Parts: sequence; structure tokens; C-alpha cells
Amino acid sequence: MANNLLQGKRGIIFGALDENSIAWKTALRVHEEGGTFVLTNAPVAMRLGKISELAKACNSEVIPADATSLEDLENLYQKASEILGGKIDFILHSIGMSPNVRKGKDYGDLSYEFFLKTLDVSALSFHKVMQVAEKLDIMNEWGSIVALSYIAAQRVFPDYSDMAQAKATLESIARSYGYRFAKSKKVRVNTISQSPTKTTAGTGISGFDVFYDYAEIMSPLGNASGGACADYIVSLFSDLTRMVTMQNLMHDGGFSSTGITEELVEKLRKMNG
Ligand SMILES: NC(=O)c1ccc[n+]([C@@H]2O[C@H](COP(=O)([O-])OP(=O)(O)OC[C@H]3O[C@@H](n4cnc5c(N)ncnc54)[C@H](O)[C@@H]3O)[C@@H](O)[C@H]2O)c1
Repeated sequence: MANNLLQGKRGIIFGALDENSIAWKTALRVHEEGGTFVLTNAPVAMRLGKISELAKACNSEVIPADATSLEDLENLYQKASEILGGKIDFILHSIGMSPNVRKGKDYGDLSYEFFLKTLDVSALSFHKVMQVAEKLDIMNEWGSIVALSYIAAQRVFPDYSDMAQAKATLESIARSYGYRFAKSKKVRVNTISQSPTKTTAGTGISGFDVFYDYAEIMSPLGNASGGACADYIVSLFSDLTRMVTMQNLMHDGGFSSTGITEELVEKLRKMNG
């Protein structure tokens, strides 16, 4: 289904860990559409992951960077513009991690040290990615920057814990930086609020299987897959969406607009005998 939508466009993709990662699927789709890019992930993830396989498949290079480190980001951008031969057109921020979730901490017994780490990795890193990009002036005009969010930013999903605050902050950063970048460089900034997706980060949330199934039943189109998310990201990197900015875009098969579905009614009826 390649249409050369990203022919001639260059960018950076953060967060491909394995073939389930949304960033991994996006890299393959962007490559298919003619885009060229540098892949990056935290140095520790690079050792665990198999990003070099992906790099080979996409004819791209990998530059390690901890997205919370300004020095790492500066180094990444300098090297990326050398490799890609100039300024860039798109950035995907596909990064999330909560030590509180990982350690199974109860929401009433959070570690604040961990909480700050959650916010730094999952939200402030998005600001850092854009601030360093702007300071180094690496974005081309009409470029596009996308980060991934989840509906727990607006509604309570108890097991999502402090990641809910991280996503609310992430979406707010997209609006504030989107305003700034539109004015200075005509660069657009959006978040995509994605359905539950079976990835390392997703399945790390306790009760994931249940809220995956719940969202599936509650979405008229069913859950949006990681592959469908990659397609949507391609559209946002393309010139077909040049006036879309500062938005949190629901990519959820209709979940966020649905009160109840016949399937759920049926299931509850059966439960009640
Ligand atoms: N999976 C879901 O259900 C779901 C739903 C909505 C939104 N999202 C979001 O999608 C994004 C991608 O997650 P995924 O589901 O593909 O899982 P994933 O585990 O494959 O990707 C998360 C990535 O974040 C990277 N990362 C963590 N700390 C980092 C750091 N300090 N610097 C750089 N990279 C770092 C990891 O190495 C990993 O590659 C995340 O923002 C996640 O919150 C996921």
C-alpha cells in the first residue's frame, strides 16, 4: 500500500524496542513510503532490544540517546543531520515508562522519586526533544512532530497509575510547544491517543489483558492495532495534514465516543442470568 507519501522526507524515530513496538511498525511504514530516518533508543534498551535488525530492514542507522538527557539529544541531532544530509521533517516520540507501575506500587503508596522519573521519561522528554531541536534549528518548515498518548489522560483507569499524569502533561506540552513551533517554524505538533496495544510498555500495566478486552468490546471498530497507528502516523508526517496541529487525536476505533455497546449489554445480561 505504498504511495510515496514521505518521499524526500527525513526524520528521527524514538522508541523501537522490538517488533511489537508502535515505533517499530512506524519505522517499517515510513520506510515503505519513501522516508529516510535515524532510529534511536535509550542505551539500555539498545542492549536488550533488537533495533539493529530494524535498522537493517530500513536501511537506517541507530544512534543511542536517553531522551531525558539534553547532551544525548544534542549529540543525536548533530549526528542525525550529518547522516541524513541536512535538516529533518519529522520526529516520532514513542517513549513511556513508569517505575511505579513496573514495581507494582499502589496509587496511594507511590514513590515520589519514581513519580518524577515517570514524568521525566514519559512527558518532559517530549519537551526536551522539541526544545533541543528548536535550539539547534534542525526542523524544516512544515515539519511534523508526533508523540503517543493514552485516554487515561482524561479518564481514570486505576492501574495506569502515575502514567495518567504523565500523559496529561505530554498532551499539554504538545499544545504549548505546538503553538510556539507553529509560530517560529510552521512545524506542527500532535499527540495520538492510541487504543491499548500489545507491546512491552502496554502489557507492563497490570490488568492490561482486561482493559484490552474491555476496549475491544467498547470500540465500534474494535481496538486500533499498532499497524493502524503506524499508518496514522505516516499521514501526520505527510503533506496531507499540514494544518493539523496542537491536537490530541483519538485513534481508538471509536472508544472515546462510545457510552456502551450492544456486546457489553449482552455480556452483562448473561452475567445477571
Ligand atoms: N501499548 C499501549 O497499549 C499504548 C497505548 C497508548 C499509548 N501508548 C504509548 O505508545 C508509546 C510507545 O510504547 P509501546 O506501546 O510501543 O511500547 P514499547 O515498550 O515498545 O516502547 C516504549 C519505548 O520507550 C523507550 N524508552 C524508555 N525510556 C526511555 C528513555 N529514557 N529514553 C529513550 N527511550 C526510552 C523504551 O526503550 C521503548 O523502546 C508510549 O508512549 C506508550 O505510553 C501505548
